[in-house]
Amino acid sequence: MKKYQVIYADPPWTFSSRELQKYEGIRFTSIEKHYLTQNKEWIKNLSVKGITAEDCALFLWSTDAHLKEAIETIEMWGFKYITVAFIWEKKTVTGKTVANLGAWTMKNYELCLLGTKGRMLQYKKVNNLYQKVEAERTKHSKKPEEVRKRIEQLFGDLPKIELFAREKTEGWDVWGNEVESDIDL
Ligand SMILES: C[S@@+](CC[C@H](N)C(=O)[O-])C[C@H]1O[C@@H](n2cnc3c(N)ncnc32)[C@H](O)[C@@H]1O
Repeated sequence: MKKYQVIYADPPWTFSSRELQKYEGIRFTSIEKHYLTQNKEWIKNLSVKGITAEDCALFLWSTDAHLKEAIETIEMWGFKYITVAFIWEKKTVTGKTVANLGAWTMKNYELCLLGTKGRMLQYKKVNNLYQKVEAERTKHSKKPEEVRKRIEQLFGDLPKIELFAREKTEGWDVWGNEVESDIDL
């Protein structure tokens, strides 16, 4: 099985209606209209350990409502939670900050967490990467290309895979049910 040193993943988290009500202030979700979602246990139990090299970094997107499960997922996949690598400030087409309804505050950001295993600092190529990414919100759940670019800047051409990918990106292997996957998981 091929081993990777960079894993970039955007899981299809399920929202229960209670979670939606509690965190997002809304009652119904339409995520299933866009793609298949999976429960937290399924995501945590994916055999990601089998594709990680001894030194490996995981970049994992989480929603606000799934932070606890996201950190548990990082640990179940064999990594240690380190930090929030990127925050994406969602912009409209005219450059305004998107404000989605929330139960407590309005939502403008998404978080991409970093977990590592082994000794990843030795592969770091730059020291000047910003955490904040300002980018337009386009297709439902589509994450900005800029995040992949910053990961490439950070780690150069280490073997990389995107899990739950919806498109193929040059220089990256991909796995997901909407792309032609390079591996089986
Ligand atoms: C949040 S979306 C990923 C969005 C992507 N990062 C982008 O920027 O467009 C999650 C993806 O996981 C996929 N998915 C759901 N269940 C899956 C499964 N059992 N195996 C593989 N992929 C699955 C969904 O179909 C969807 O494409």
